[in-house]
Amino acid sequence: MNKYQRIAQVNQVFTPGYPVSHQDMFAGRMEQLQRVVETLHAPGRHPVMFGQRGVGKTSLANILGQVLQEMLSVKVSCDGADTFATVWNRVMVTASVRFKQKALGFTGEDSERSLTLSQVLGHDPTSTKPAEIADLLKRMNAPAAVILDEFDKLTTPEIKAQFADLIKIVSDTAPLITIVIVGVAENIHELVGEHESIQRNLVHVELPLMSDSEIQTIFTKGLDRLGIGYADSVVTQVPMLAGGFPHYAHLLGLASAKAVIHGEATAITHAHFDQACAYALADAVEKYRDAFARATATTQASRYPRILAACGHAKTDGRGVFRATDVVDAFKAVFGEALSVQAVVPALGEFLSDERAEVLKAVSVAGRQCYRFSDPMMRPYCRLKAMEILGLQPPKLQH
Ligand SMILES: Nc1ncnc2c1ncn2[C@@H]1O[C@H](COP(=O)(O)OP(=O)(O)OP(=O)(O)O)[C@@H](O)[C@H]1O
Ligand SMILES: [Mg+2]
Repeated sequence: MNKYQRIAQVNQVFTPGYPVSHQDMFAGRMEQLQRVVETLHAPGRHPVMFGQRGVGKTSLANILGQVLQEMLSVKVSCDGADTFATVWNRVMVTASVRFKQKALGFTGEDSERSLTLSQVLGHDPTSTKPAEIADLLKRMNAPAAVILDEFDKLTTPEIKAQFADLIKIVSDTAPLITIVIVGVAENIHELVGEHESIQRNLVHVELPLMSDSEIQTIFTKGLDRLGIGYADSVVTQVPMLAGGFPHYAHLLGLASAKAVIHGEATAITHAHFDQACAYALADAVEKYRDAFARATATTQASRYPRILAACGHAKTDGRGVFRATDVVDAFKAVFGEALSVQAVVPALGEFLSDERAEVLKAVSVAGRQCYRFSDPMMRPYCRLKAMEILGLQPPKLQH
């Protein structure tokens, strides 16, 4: 295999911009997977998988079908223009031949054809009601799951109420059907609305940020598949940089593998990893690169880049909130220089402003001004920036 073929292979294994769709590259999330799988077999119980952006919701939803080979499933994504009818139309159009045969009882040519909701119902589906879709789902004679990803895009109370009604009727009348709801949210009420009648039917499956060992597994699993060696001392740097986001584990994996291939080596050294961090910064999502550049732009040399990079290392509470003193501590730990709180606060104030891309948001905790990143995925980018500022030596953090 030549160099370019190897790089093509690397891009199949590490996919920072694409959800995992095969078990081979799926890592961690065993607890959440088990909770969903148990729910799928429980009549009248439906999992709601939620978490912040980018934590791996779609990837988990994607591999459900592979884990449960005996169960039929169909997965669709919702969008902002959807109505109740258009979501169910998409479910019908997407359903596989096997799903249509086994679950909906279609035979012969009917199951081979692409079906619209209108054909299935036999009338214009625009005004279809939850009870009518439930009647359709009741026909299913095999265990089946309908997975609705990006459910957060459905924002009106009306559409949420229609789905709640549907879940209620399906729970009472169609024991073989599970509706899996997936979306960005802090809690399930935010995603599905507050509907007392279905509380007992919903099972919360929260996807938190990934643990250090889950992040390491993504990185090492990919390198193992590519036959690239690594030292533990390199691998342990990955969780520190990724901050719990699997996207960054893929970005660093991709960059590390490229550095090894360009260096015509077979295992990652610390020098390759430094090179990889530089590639990762150059390859990072434009939104984060642009936000960092706008937030720290000044005509003269300033401390802004180092202060923002230190925010990436600031100790946080469970919700990503930190104080100015946490930034002072991180600045000392990362750059070895003591700054006063008075020196840090004006910079943090600037980072809240629109001209500086609003990289931070102000949060009040017990009457005290605190901060958090507007987009939590900015934190790992700031950690990578800290490495760049340090000449790509990983910071030796004392906290
Ligand atoms: N369990 C996992 N194992 C390996 N890689 C993962 C895993 N979960 C997510 N990833 C990777 O992390 C990135 C984000 O994953 P994914 O798109 O599934 O997240 P998401 O929560 O659905 O994001 P969004 O909120 O933007 O819809 C992708 O690059 C994906 O390949
Ligand atoms: Mg997703």
